[in-house]
Amino acid sequence: MGQVFITRVIPGTAVETLREAGHEVEVWPEAGPPPPDVLAARLAAADAAMTMVVDRVTPSMLDTAPRLKVLANMAVGYDNIDPAEAAKRGVRVTNTPGVLAETTADMAFALLMAAARNVVASDRDTRAGGWTTWSPTGFLGQDVFGATLGIVGLGEIGEAMARRALGFRMRVVYTSRTRKPEAEARFGCRFVEIGELLAQSDFVSLHVPLNGSTRGMIGARELRLMKTSAILVNTARGQVVDQGALIAALRDGVIGGAALDVTDPEPLPLENPLYTFSNVIITPHIASASLATRAKMAEMAAANIIAVLAGQAPINPVN
Ligand code: NAP
Ligand code: GLV
Repeated sequence: MGQVFITRVIPGTAVETLREAGHEVEVWPEAGPPPPDVLAARLAAADAAMTMVVDRVTPSMLDTAPRLKVLANMAVGYDNIDPAEAAKRGVRVTNTPGVLAETTADMAFALLMAAARNVVASDRDTRAGGWTTWSPTGFLGQDVFGATLGIVGLGEIGEAMARRALGFRMRVVYTSRTRKPEAEARFGCRFVEIGELLAQSDFVSLHVPLNGSTRGMIGARELRLMKTSAILVNTARGQVVDQGALIAALRDGVIGGAALDVTDPEPLPLENPLYTFSNVIITPHIASASLATRAKMAEMAAANIIAVLAGQAPINPVN
């Protein structure tokens, strides 16, 4: 029997699953996240917490949470928690790998298509009364079929992206921390260094986790290596891109456009210059947001909590 704090209302039956396992569950009822002082107070009284990507759990919060045994992040990314600091304090950290890969790749591909074919810009224009005639030159986009897709980070989501690209007869190049010969054979994709990938790709899609080696990996230099027509798709984390450099590149026509499900910070303040570009699409960090997938992520997080509170090893440990 443990006290479980869940930082947001979650879809599916995970709360019932935790209660059926004998745990007392408190769900933060508001639309926004618990403020840091509230999160610290709840963690201080909890044996387990289910956290979201926007819940920054600091080492000082962990210092005042002597009972806490597990932080089950309802996400595959866990850059909102320092797993090493948690481990020092005996707190297990878990995530939700795999279960969201297809859904997230669906969204990354949707963003790619929408940017390539001006779906959002033309919808916006139509609603504003801009559809006055059929024009042979209106909203000319780029073909997706036959184009080159550059995948940065060929993990679960990157691979799901490669599978989609095959169906569109795209040429796929990738770069990753380690080479993936099996994926190369299966998807016919080719490993290249990041510079070559940026130079060759019509679409660059980011699928790396945010960590010390990926923070700011797409900066001014990298953007200059891209084709002037190329579109950057980011469903990874906002901080993987140097956002100031991206704004400058869009302003100066260095790249063709961007489709961003993640930004720095989140939410992106309305005065941010990114909103001023018609060739930029911004969605509010929803790549894994299908009902079925979010429910599975919540169940996976609940299963990790149940395992740890039962004295077992977590199912999806990250520390
Ligand atoms: P994954 O399976 O762990 O794949 C990540 C890939 O990135 C791995 O192949 C890894 O290489 C590679 N990588 C790590 N550091 C690298 C570096 N410095 N340079 C090049 N490649 C590097 O994770 P995933 O499930 O695909 O998820 C990826 C990320 O997407 C998550 O961490 C999260 O931040 C983000 N995400 C966002 C949403 C959203 O709602 N927008 C949803 C889901 C995930 P190795 O194979 O060699 O380790
Ligand atoms: C979402 O951003 C995740 O990392 O699952």
